[in-house]
Amino acid sequence: MGFPEGFLWGGATAANQCEGAWNEDGKGINSSDVMTAGDVNKKREITEEIKEGTYYPSHNAIDHYHHYKEDIALFAEMGFTCYRFSINWTRVFPNGDDAAPNEAGLQFYDRIIDECLKYKITPLITISHYETPLGLLKYDSWIGRTTVDCFLRYCETIFKRYKGKVRHWLTFNEINCMSSTPWTAGAVPKQDEASVMIAAYHQLLASAKAVKLAHEIDPENKVGMMYGGLFSYPYSCDPDDVIRNMEYMHEQLFYCDVQCRGYYPAYKKKDLEKKGISLPICEGDEEALKKGTVDFLSYSYYFSLVSGKNTELKDAFDTGYRNPYLKETPWGWSMDEQGLRYSLNLLYDRYQIPLMIVENGMGMYDKLEEDKTVHDPYRIDYLKRHIKEMEKAIDLDGVDVMGYTTWGCIDLVSAGTGQMEKRYGFIYVDVDDQGNGSFERYRKDSFYWYQKVIASNGKELD
Ligand code: BG6
Repeated sequence: MGFPEGFLWGGATAANQCEGAWNEDGKGINSSDVMTAGDVNKKREITEEIKEGTYYPSHNAIDHYHHYKEDIALFAEMGFTCYRFSINWTRVFPNGDDAAPNEAGLQFYDRIIDECLKYKITPLITISHYETPLGLLKYDSWIGRTTVDCFLRYCETIFKRYKGKVRHWLTFNEINCMSSTPWTAGAVPKQDEASVMIAAYHQLLASAKAVKLAHEIDPENKVGMMYGGLFSYPYSCDPDDVIRNMEYMHEQLFYCDVQCRGYYPAYKKKDLEKKGISLPICEGDEEALKKGTVDFLSYSYYFSLVSGKNTELKDAFDTGYRNPYLKETPWGWSMDEQGLRYSLNLLYDRYQIPLMIVENGMGMYDKLEEDKTVHDPYRIDYLKRHIKEMEKAIDLDGVDVMGYTTWGCIDLVSAGTGQMEKRYGFIYVDVDDQGNGSFERYRKDSFYWYQKVIASNGKELD
């Protein structure tokens, strides 16, 4: 009973949020490099070019580019058996459509992967995590079909380069975020629904083709999709609330339906038809979607939502309702560990393929004490509750869960707000919201707690 043998335990990061070194060794500029810092109440801005005197958090982030050895050694010390990270597309193809890949960029990931393997840590690579090359804007980014080909060339390059070393891949991080934050999801320059749905179509197509390519290059490759965990409960048993909640979930889950089943679901086709949106479907595309279904479904889970008859379907994060039964973090994210068990069941019932939680965690203000310790009982409590519910889903409900990687296992830049002070890590990094600090790393209390969790395969949680 409990977590199965070989269950993957670890943590997750994304290149743009941790690497820094934004213009070193031939790296090009991507969508995150032009996003300014916001805060808890202020959205990040997107500037057309890099503005002198403006602070861009991705530029230095936590300087993982130069600290990767130390960081991976700390992950190994915690006992990680899996490390999820992303390859920054613009390190490999600086403009997205270059004639040849950038060898220095590939060498950086050679080093990261070898470092993981040295400690017997399984690398799980996100191919595109909010890092679309700005050079692809000349094709309208994902609105244009050329970007699909550029993406596949990038995939082919890394699948061949890391063959035999990397066998676990995720195509697009939180692909459903295309509907709410198209710039972050894919440097999509237009916000109207037709453009966004075309960009989503191209990403779904690219993902399916990448799955097929990965299997052709190495039949041992396992490729997953990555869903941004938006799950909402109906506000009440009023059928109007229930129906609107169903529509809200359709808007999110169609991305999973396409990647797991290989075709657009009927409800989505009807919705597009009603809105007069036609997708640029070319010959062979339907076949490609069918042949490129994923091997597993991974997702992030932080909170649950509530929606009902007053929910506007435009903004996925703002449903217009709050859950009075749940407490929230200072960033207004509800804390609902039972929602994790609920979501695991919902997705497993629907697709019957292995699942993996590749992000979960609590973003909080932490305090570095004078003696360089960090006491974070709130984070331990949050994670413990979620791990217990995940165990119930496995033990009581029979859900097939492959592994669990917490988000931001080392403090890093927040994707939503651009802050450093929204910290998730087991490892404190001494950098503030303006990028000042020593960049020293310190173990938090949760570091030692997670070490015990992993060593006991999830048995020792208290
Ligand atoms: C997910 C993303 O949305 O949530 C991560 O995949 C992100 O990139 C994480 O950092 C937490 O969100 P935030 O806004 O707190 O950084």
